[in-house]
Formats: sequence, structure tokens, C-alpha cells
Amino acid sequence: MKHLLTLRDISTEEIQKILCRADSFSQGIRPKQYEDKIAANLFFEPSTRTQYSFNVAEVKLGMRVISFSPESSSLQKDESFYDTVKVIDSFGVDIIVIRHSENEYYKQLLGHVDAAILNGGDGTGDHPTQSLLDLMTIKQEFGGFEGLRCAIIGDIRHSRVAHTNFEIMSRLGMEVVTSGPDIYKEDRFKFVPFDEAVAESDIVMLLRVQHERHSDGKTNFSKDEYHASYGMNADRIKQMKQHAIIMHPAPFNRGVEIADEIVEGENSRIFKQMSNGVFVRMAVIERALEG
Ligand code: CP
Repeated sequence: MKHLLTLRDISTEEIQKILCRADSFSQGIRPKQYEDKIAANLFFEPSTRTQYSFNVAEVKLGMRVISFSPESSSLQKDESFYDTVKVIDSFGVDIIVIRHSENEYYKQLLGHVDAAILNGGDGTGDHPTQSLLDLMTIKQEFGGFEGLRCAIIGDIRHSRVAHTNFEIMSRLGMEVVTSGPDIYKEDRFKFVPFDEAVAESDIVMLLRVQHERHSDGKTNFSKDEYHASYGMNADRIKQMKQHAIIMHPAPFNRGVEIADEIVEGENSRIFKQMSNGVFVRMAVIERALEG
């Protein structure tokens, strides 16, 4: 069984193999069926894309799937996160997909569970399958990675997508810059003014402001203020390179970081990213089951 915890543990060669396999699924290659295998999807934080695309991937691979609701589980009777995962593992499931608000939650589980753990997002740490589907989308668009410039714009500090993408995109030969409000920037990443980020990048990756991770529960911007200063709109689209694309891990907030009409506009690959999420997750589940 092979866990998928963070892309930092995986060689670029293996990442390319996962992307190739995901691409072959997207082209209709019939996947091996795992009718005798069971998947458990444990989402301790809300999710639509990651949770349900893992579910679809598991169904396409012929697996049986257990879903889980924290609200109706014994977490409500003070059972711990660790014990909850141990319970599900003791049932003999083969893979456990986990999303949790704690960074590197998986470290406490390693050596204590038999199932392969697939990380569906840990706090502000990593979101490996999101980055893989982002890479798949970029490769489909540009044929590779070397020399491309990606601007990640928005709430960088609280974004596990930004953190994972910065590391892996740099490793694959891309130039990655960040932009957006100063209060969300991280000094370890190159930061450029918003207009420069939009005008000089091949990929403009927008992020939602992650209010749920702001310790004071407040934001310094109204929605309109944010949109006026940092939102992608029809005027700013005109500043982009002709071939440049817009990406967003979603959920997106229409009228805040992205104007309504841009979400499904011709430069947007947002729904393509979501479709690719199923194929990438099929590839990482197959990798986990085949070891
Ligand atoms: N991109 C992403 O992780 O979306 P969800 O939170 O809906 O899973």
C-alpha cells in the first residue's frame, strides 16, 4: 500500500507517471476493477470537489465505498480523530481518504493503520491531489511545465493549494510568483504587484479568501473592495497574455476574486480542473492499491 501524503515525498518522475496514467484514464483507457476493495472517505472538513470526485473515482475503479459524516459519528461523543480513523481501519478497508484541519494530521497515524492514507487536504499544509489535477490541466494546455510562469493570487498564507503548488511547480521548472493583498502574502515566496502578475503569466491561478482559517474570523475587505482591487474581471482579462489561462481550485466566490462572467469564460479552465480531478484520483488510488 502506498500512502499519498504530500508531493514533497514523491519524485518528479513518479509525479509524471501519475499524470500519464490520469491522462490515459481521461482518454478512455478502461481501468482495472477492484471489486474486492473498500474505500472510506473521512472528511472532517467540508468538501464538494475532493470528496465527491474521490467517490466517483472509487466507483469507476469498481470499489465499494464507505462515506462518513462527522456530525453523525461518535466524534460527537468525544471520540478522538485518531481513534475514529483506527476504528475505520480495523474494519479492514483498503484506502482511507482524509481531510482534516490539522497540518500533517497523518503523522500520528503512520505505523498505526494498515490502509493506505490518501491526503484530501491537511490544514494549511498540503493538498496533493489538487496540485496533481492542476498539473494535469496545465500539461494538457501547454504540453509541459518547463519555463511556464504561474501567478498564484489571493490568500496565499492560508492556502494549502498555494503551498503545495509552489513547491511542485518550482521543482518541475516553472516560475511561480504570488500576488494579492499584502496581509495574505508569505515572504518565502516571490511576490509581485497584481497587474504584473496578470500581465506576465501563462497561468493566473486565483484563490478564495479563506475566512474559516482567519483566527479573528474577520476579513479586512468587503467583497466589493476585494473585487475592485484583486478580482479578475473583463478589463483585467484583456491585460493577460493571449494564450494565458485562468485556474482556481474552487470553491470560487463569484463577484469577489473572480467576476461571474469569467468563471465559465473562454480563458477559464476551472471546470476542466474539476473533471481532471476524477482521473488524477483514479491514478493515485490505483497507485495505492498496486503498491
Ligand atoms: N478544491 C477543493 O479542495 O474543493 P473542495 O473543498 O470542495 O474539496
